[in-house]
Amino acid sequence: MSPTDTVTQLVVFYGPLVNPKSTSSLLLLPNSLLAVAANGEIDWIEHNVHPSSVQDVLARHGSLDTLLIALKHGEFIIPGFVDTHTHAPQVPNIGSGQQYELLDWLKEVTFPMEARFADADFAHRAYTKIVERIINSGTTTCCYYGTIHLEATKKLAEIVNSYGQRAFVGKCNMDHNSLHDYVEPSVSSSIDDTNALISHIRSLPSPRLVEPVLTPRFAMSCSGSLMTQLGAIASADPSLRIQTHISENQEEVRQTLELFPEATSYADVYDRHGLLGPRTILAHAIHLGDDEIALLKERDAGVSHCPTSNFNLRSGVCPVGKLTDHGIKVGLGTDVSGGFSPSILTAIQHASIASKIVAIQHPAEPSATTSFAGRQLPLATLLYLATLGGARVCGLEDRIGSFAPGKAFDALVVSVRGDTGNPGLWGVDLDEALNVKHVESKELEVWLERFLFTGDDRNIRRVYVQGQWIGGAERIR
Ligand code: GUN
Ligand code: FE
Repeated sequence: MSPTDTVTQLVVFYGPLVNPKSTSSLLLLPNSLLAVAANGEIDWIEHNVHPSSVQDVLARHGSLDTLLIALKHGEFIIPGFVDTHTHAPQVPNIGSGQQYELLDWLKEVTFPMEARFADADFAHRAYTKIVERIINSGTTTCCYYGTIHLEATKKLAEIVNSYGQRAFVGKCNMDHNSLHDYVEPSVSSSIDDTNALISHIRSLPSPRLVEPVLTPRFAMSCSGSLMTQLGAIASADPSLRIQTHISENQEEVRQTLELFPEATSYADVYDRHGLLGPRTILAHAIHLGDDEIALLKERDAGVSHCPTSNFNLRSGVCPVGKLTDHGIKVGLGTDVSGGFSPSILTAIQHASIASKIVAIQHPAEPSATTSFAGRQLPLATLLYLATLGGARVCGLEDRIGSFAPGKAFDALVVSVRGDTGNPGLWGVDLDEALNVKHVESKELEVWLERFLFTGDDRNIRRVYVQGQWIGGAERIR
């Protein structure tokens, strides 16, 4: 089967599954059978199937006419990663300008690069490589910011759609407070271009897994009148998500409150313009006051935790445990190129470190055993944030983020074997390869932790979205 082949029969995977369950638990399921129907949805799942019983189980499901994919020893399946916040046009800037904090970084490094996407041909070439790289990093659902340019952002959505990735693509709204060559000329042109992008994305050829998302960049780059009109678009269309930044940097918070003196807080700026609700994805949320945390909870807005960026731009440490204790939806974001890696694996590693910093500085009371604040995030929580947590932030928890009959098969076939070419990762002895053998859940947990902390795209062998094989190391080699 080649990556672009359309699946026309039932495909059944046999091997270990890792299935996120809640903020604090996951299921380690060795020797599972997972059947994917031709429409890309999971048909059925069976656990603890001994190799000698595979054919019997298939027969019981009436599934003998199947393509059976038996994983090798050292391979396992996890849900695909959800990147709840990234900037596609900043990928060419990865690793540069990291001496700056946010506002200088935007002015000196970021806006000049984004301005280049006025050239739609440049955008097409750049986005083709960028989206492929993000898919091969294991991101099956991605919340993309484009630039202010309509044509370039249309290209981004077209490319995402042609690869078959699940995504939200937004054109940045920025009508003031920016560079003279990187700002929209008026509220009306910003709104017209936004409406044009929404229509364009919704008319892309099916199967279409890309959706438009309203993208007021952040309060500082939008006039009140622009945000009010975007809020009206959102309230008229209950399927539209909204993505923006909030409370990332202390100086940004100060200037925001200066620009909107009538607001009682940063979160209140978005709220009074109709932009804070259950479909809102807020990146960073580092310096929120308790009143803002309560408001986010009341509105059921989601947070994208972007720890790599938060460290790299010296923005601060997001109190993810506290947000989770307050019942706020949280997922992970790479925030390229504030973050220097397009891989959610890096975000997982830095989310772990961030939680350890909080635990060192503000340790939980030993008696607070069921809360997250002041504790390091366990493996189950880290995987949850990268998958099911991100799906909840995007309002897609019924479709993706974990495995269950009826959900889409958005998944990664991961390998921790020694033959992946990743020298940093302990591998399974090659002599043990090729035959599926009985795997214990303890062994699977070791593989998972090794992968999350030392793996990279060489270990992500296959990337599936809606049952279609769209990328991974096996495809690009
Ligand atoms: N705030 C406004 N724009 C941006 C951006 O591009 N990246 C980050 N990290 N923060 C922002
Ligand atoms: Fe960002």
